[in-house]
Amino acid sequence: MAQRTYRTDQIVVHWDSERCAHSGFCLRTLPEVFNAAARPWVNVDAASADAIADAVERCPSGALSYERLDGEPDETPDDPVTIVPWPHGPLFVRGTVRILDRHGEQFPTGPRVALCRCGQSRNHPFCDASHAEVGFTSYPRVISDQRKDAESPADLEPR
Ligand code: SF4
Ligand code: FES
Repeated sequence: MAQRTYRTDQIVVHWDSERCAHSGFCLRTLPEVFNAAARPWVNVDAASADAIADAVERCPSGALSYERLDGEPDETPDDPVTIVPWPHGPLFVRGTVRILDRHGEQFPTGPRVALCRCGQSRNHPFCDASHAEVGFTSYPRVISDQRKDAESPADLEPR
């Protein structure tokens, strides 16, 4: 696990390799700052603190986070919590949630987290991009006639 930090006088950006889901949102949002081929891969001098904060908040896994040093407000978690099932990918959760293992131990999380729903992640419960490797397909939500017409749970059968 690597926790890396990139700093200017205005902002500190943190990256947690254990949480990164390889989604590439950061690379597409602000390529002059986030370049996975460069070392260091985050160049915090290449954009304004506002632009960097905006890009960091688009990181769905929470691997990226920031602290403002210039008096501007830090990230405000979504309230209520929002969950977006990403097509053929994880559940993107935004807001403060507690995630526990079956023994009640809490996973460290922040204001964003990407939860695996393909079942193939080797970093459960977090997405590690294995869904792409295994070709996970999510189906669009369809309310079947059987479900619409059901009069009791006994009328429902799995697809
Ligand atoms: S999970 Fe976050 S840090 Fe990792 S590639 Fe995606 S946006 Fe970038
Ligand atoms: S949804 Fe990404 S690894 Fe399972």
